[in-house]
Amino acid sequence: MYNFKNTVAADLLNCINKLSSDIALTKDDVLAMFEYPPDSNLGDIAFPCFKLSRLLRKAPPVIAKEISEAFSSEVVSKAEAVNGYLNIFVSNEYLIKNVLLKIEEKGEKYGSDGSGKGKVAVFDYSSPNVAKPFHIGHLGTTVIGHSLKMLHEFQGYDCVGINYLGDWGTQFGKLIVAYNLWGSKDAVEKGGVDELVSLYVKFHNEAEKDKSLNQRARDEFTKLEHHDETNIQLWKWFVDISLNEYKKTYKQLGIEFDSYKGESFYTDKMPAQVEKLRNSGLLKIDDGASIVDLSEYNMPPCLILKKDGSTLYPTRDIAAAVYRKNEYKFDKCIYVTSAGQSLHFAQWFKVVEMMGYDWYNQLVHVPYGTVSINGEKLATRTGNVILLKDLFATAIEKVSEIINEKNPNLPNKEEVSEAVGVGSVVFYYLYNNRIKDINFIMKDALSFEGNTGPYAQYTYARTCGILEKASGINVNETEPTITTSEEADLLKILSKFNEAVNEAIKEYEPSVITRYIIDICSAFNKFYHNCQIATADDINVRNTRIRLTQATKTVLGTAFGLICMKKTEKI
Ligand code: ARG
Repeated sequence: MYNFKNTVAADLLNCINKLSSDIALTKDDVLAMFEYPPDSNLGDIAFPCFKLSRLLRKAPPVIAKEISEAFSSEVVSKAEAVNGYLNIFVSNEYLIKNVLLKIEEKGEKYGSDGSGKGKVAVFDYSSPNVAKPFHIGHLGTTVIGHSLKMLHEFQGYDCVGINYLGDWGTQFGKLIVAYNLWGSKDAVEKGGVDELVSLYVKFHNEAEKDKSLNQRARDEFTKLEHHDETNIQLWKWFVDISLNEYKKTYKQLGIEFDSYKGESFYTDKMPAQVEKLRNSGLLKIDDGASIVDLSEYNMPPCLILKKDGSTLYPTRDIAAAVYRKNEYKFDKCIYVTSAGQSLHFAQWFKVVEMMGYDWYNQLVHVPYGTVSINGEKLATRTGNVILLKDLFATAIEKVSEIINEKNPNLPNKEEVSEAVGVGSVVFYYLYNNRIKDINFIMKDALSFEGNTGPYAQYTYARTCGILEKASGINVNETEPTITTSEEADLLKILSKFNEAVNEAIKEYEPSVITRYIIDICSAFNKFYHNCQIATADDINVRNTRIRLTQATKTVLGTAFGLICMKKTEKI
């Protein structure tokens, strides 16, 4: 609708200026005043005349009436005055020329306006902590992060996806102690991350009884920090094993990272920033620790160095941000984490500002709510967690059962089960506003009815099925024509893609796209149920409908990619 609104705004402004010369409105003012009527029978967009009333010293209904009589626009089929509003209807010609033909012309680029061209956006997301479980709490950062990256890429941004692995810290001391005491090479090689996690959990259980284990862990970590060869080897091995496993999950989601520079990479980049902080007089000593006082900003102090001089999470984040600014010259750097870390980000963003880095306002934190499964929260330390890979495996298995029952001869059953299974989890998750806490219910996610991933995938496969049957038809031998409201409604929805993309980027909110996908699916299914497509008698009508089906497939396919959902031609 963006282009439509733009054209109407220009034509409307023209008309208003003719009616009265003393109204100083701009096109942007007009654009900002447009509303979507609650019911599409009332019009596609509405222009409220209340604000003009004071300026023109006339009642809104009178103004609406006057405009409706004087107004004409190539893209509008009619404009009616109703209760002080000008209700505007898009013309079928517009829908064909600017939506259907545009989709055909631009294909997978339809919906993009290139507004990100020449800009660099960095995304810090997923970033699991090595040797701790990669659990459903990470679903948010992984899929919201990737989706935001895809959205920016779609708009032409140069994007860098960074997996800021938690590959450094005292947990490695714990793991090394646990491995030396109870682990074996064989068991770790066979068990992978699961084995590392059980060693980690065992460490915590044992340390409850024997407190000296904690000191031993600190000692092992210190050795690691001082490049003790044995510990470095163990550390590298633990990281590799973890990374290989994470990559399997990323592959299921179609995610690739441009960089895996994790926390360890920044160990030698922190001293320079600590120095800068010290030189600019920002560091205060508090009970032996070095902090930056943020009381002026109503925040607790940002911790830079512990009593023993070791660095902290914020120290590393500051060093990493400086490194990334130099390395990538970003226009924005986006961090996706649970809302539990909001204070951490607010604090160190402020410190970056106080340090005089003028790009501090290019740092963006995108928080999200918690996930529970069937009402149960997660607890890493007790091992009471649901791993992301297990969640996906369950979903895939359930889909494969459904397929075996309903469509046992489907080709590529495994691939389809994976796309639909993983997609159902992603879709269910991304359907909600990111900041809301969600309770994951597998049965709902997997349902083929309702606003779900499987429903969207099914609709996509339906478009593919229709197009396959119609593949022999030359649909371009006639001029497209719209004959029903279902066709027009479908094109109106498809015309809103660009708006949805921009809204999702502006709000850092992939759910805008997920919901938009459902809008397309509902409009398409209504069209499918009420209109004959490849079997329509009239050739013009038939050809147009097949092209509408193709256009739907194109936009749906692109939109799936924006929320990390794979598509499948058959279910
Ligand atoms: N590894 C951290 C965690 O799992 C998330 C890292 C987020 N990114 C950052 N730059 N701090 O909690």
